[in-house]
Amino acid sequence: MRNAVNVLIIDDDEAHIELLKRAFDSHRASFNLSTQSTLAGARLHMQNNIPDIVLCDWLLPDGTGIELLSPNREATLFPVVLITSHGNEELAVGAMKAGALDYIVKSPDTFANMPDFVVRAHREWTHIVARKEAEIKLQQVLLQTVESLSLMVEKRDPYTAGHQKKVCQLACAIAGEMQLDHNSQSGIYIASILHDIGKISIPAEYLSKPGTLDPVEFTIIKSHPQVAYEMLKSIDFDSPVMKIVQQHHEKCNGSGYPFGLKCQDILLEARIITVADVVEAISSHRPYRAALGIDVALKEISTNAGELYDPDVVDICLKLFKNGFKFSF
Ligand SMILES: [Fe+2]
Repeated sequence: MRNAVNVLIIDDDEAHIELLKRAFDSHRASFNLSTQSTLAGARLHMQNNIPDIVLCDWLLPDGTGIELLSPNREATLFPVVLITSHGNEELAVGAMKAGALDYIVKSPDTFANMPDFVVRAHREWTHIVARKEAEIKLQQVLLQTVESLSLMVEKRDPYTAGHQKKVCQLACAIAGEMQLDHNSQSGIYIASILHDIGKISIPAEYLSKPGTLDPVEFTIIKSHPQVAYEMLKSIDFDSPVMKIVQQHHEKCNGSGYPFGLKCQDILLEARIITVADVVEAISSHRPYRAALGIDVALKEISTNAGELYDPDVVDICLKLFKNGFKFSF
């Protein structure tokens, strides 16, 4: 048998509470009712008794029911239904935007039908929570898959092990400092950790060659952004990950590859990854040279800011290192 649904009613009008209690009278086995007349009392009550659903009057002696809602509905532990004496479209929209599960106007009918309404609302909430949990799980699996793909490239190229992770760390720090929106930041995370995935198609001996590459070898190496684009283009990411990866070797003055795009035609996310990539590559060991160190790397980006690299991104990157940023892998 299903457990009884714990319903918390918050209302300062005794008569309304009585009407509600009467409506639930013939369904006692299915519901546990608790009542509070203020927000403060409700908050105290909820510390030890998390309800399955809250029916909250709009106007209370110590505030409005909307204060119970989190600005982010997903963060709310239980559904809140706001009940008001006077319906008004603006209030209803505000309540739903704030995260209320529903908004209803008091009437003899709504009170009488409240048990059925609560059952439906509680079921709807259970579905919302289950869907949200599934989305979170899917997102975790996506990130784990992306990290596995990233490792796959580095397994073939042990000389640059950790490169993508470090580029990701710096690119994300720059994006955070620039206060980019959530979509751009998550695009930068995925694109940076995968930015060299196209190297999977390059013979391993070219990747670890100690000397200079000949023109043919270099042409093949230069194909990796386009290969990455082809690999990623059928994945329906929320942000243009495949384009960001495709553009990570473009340079502001048009001297980059594969298309020779100019600064304004390169995605900001790609311009950020370019700077992070250059800084990490110069400061670390490579098969054909020893590590040059972070000072040389920062000099490269500041000398060529505006020419090769986005000057705003360079400024933020320099500021991060000035404030103590360090690669932690
Ligand atoms: Fe690359």
